[in-house]
Amino acid sequence: MKKITFIGTGYVGLVGGAGISEFGHQVTCVDIDQEKIERLNAGEIPIYEPGLKTLVKKNVNKGRLHFSANISKIIQKSDIVFITVGTPQGSNGEANLSVVEAVAKTIGENLNGYKIVCTKSTVPIGTGKRIEEIIRSVNSMGDFDYVSNPEFLREGAAVKDFLHPDRVVIGTRTQKAIDLMEEVYRPLYINETPILSTSVETAEMIKYAANAFLSLKISYINEIANLCESVGADVHEVARAMGLDGRISSKFLHPGPGYGGSCFPKDTHALAATGQKYGSPLRTIEAAIKTNESQKVRMVEKLSRLMGDSVNGKTIAVLGLAFKPQTDDVREAASRVIVSKLVELGASVHAYDPIAMDNFKNHFPNIKYFDSWQDAVKSADGCIILTEWNEFRGLDLNELKDLMRFPVILDTKNILSIQGLESCGFTFDNVGRKLHQ
Ligand SMILES: NC(=O)c1ccc[n+]([C@@H]2O[C@H](COP(=O)([O-])OP(=O)(O)OC[C@H]3O[C@@H](n4cnc5c(N)ncnc54)[C@H](O)[C@@H]3O)[C@@H](O)[C@H]2O)c1
Repeated sequence: MKKITFIGTGYVGLVGGAGISEFGHQVTCVDIDQEKIERLNAGEIPIYEPGLKTLVKKNVNKGRLHFSANISKIIQKSDIVFITVGTPQGSNGEANLSVVEAVAKTIGENLNGYKIVCTKSTVPIGTGKRIEEIIRSVNSMGDFDYVSNPEFLREGAAVKDFLHPDRVVIGTRTQKAIDLMEEVYRPLYINETPILSTSVETAEMIKYAANAFLSLKISYINEIANLCESVGADVHEVARAMGLDGRISSKFLHPGPGYGGSCFPKDTHALAATGQKYGSPLRTIEAAIKTNESQKVRMVEKLSRLMGDSVNGKTIAVLGLAFKPQTDDVREAASRVIVSKLVELGASVHAYDPIAMDNFKNHFPNIKYFDSWQDAVKSADGCIILTEWNEFRGLDLNELKDLMRFPVILDTKNILSIQGLESCGFTFDNVGRKLHQ
């Protein structure tokens, strides 16, 4: 059993901290946000993530999971310190490492004996070295090993992903650190989860290479979908047939309004920036970024076309704000760009999302929010679906049509039945599917 600290109690830190406590270790999740820590200590979970509440409660009750705002004291008591703070996109596309660097300094100042310092935040190649330098600059005698242990969990399935990962990557320079990390992840070793031991730089690169590839795959299928529209092909049939090829796989071949979330947009920009910095440009990733940006705009153009070439003065119901289902996260969600454009073009937006409305309100306080999809679509001139929540998959199209002023819908997630929409008399569009059988 190891004493472990997670610095930064967000999506990764809270899920990771709870997950590692489930593996049997003593974990304290710390955060600069005192209110968040108070809520956690009061039994509240500040984010929406399926299964997280149960996992946290179980491990708190077993006395293995704790929350604190006293970062220095908790670091001093730890064997292993995980860095799980945010690394948002900076103004030049590069990752903004100011919080990671501040945390590295705090760790250095509290290094009172051998510790592992392990970064789970997604950080550009070379950051490990930088963190080591910062720690040594404030504590030249500090005894520690550095590990890069990138996280691959997906929001919405984070608990499952953390407890049953496809692989664990451990990038470090010493055998002692590898052995200690093996102890941290012992249940996964027993499960025969692939554990890859690499250099720090390779581990840092793996995370970006994986995320950028998935982004590329989404942008690729979105462009194929757009071409399907022009040539009269159905992207779902194309994607299914492509996915049955074992070399391609069916994952991440779902067309839509463009990827969003707290990872793909910033990670593709950061990797592209790294490529430029080292004179080794990643042209495919740069193209994926551009495609993704234009895909969001394309959705607004499609909706405008459906509505007689203008949304000005029209009421548009937006169903789904989260960047994907099963999360309350709206960071870089396609909805942010699309709602902003609709408002700019003079539309009145009526929004509904089962979970993410509170977060969205922080960015768009002036649009109207409703407690059900039925209320959001009431008397709307048009509707756009942006997140494939299950409750939208099962929309009663007759009810929808009766509630709307005009039965006009853009299904950017291709979750509604084309035949159903046709037989109800909707004017509709989707992404890359044949409109008439
Ligand atoms: N969210 C994901 O799905 C995901 C998946 C894999 C990797 N990652 C990476 O993990 C990192 C964290 O992402 P996240 O989504 O959990 O971020 P987040 O914004 O949800 O959480 C970050 C937390 O750090 C806290 N914090 C900020 N400054 C701090 C400081 N100085 N000391 C202590 N705490 C501080 C914040 O209050 C917040 O609670 C990022 O680098 C991200 O790219 C995220």
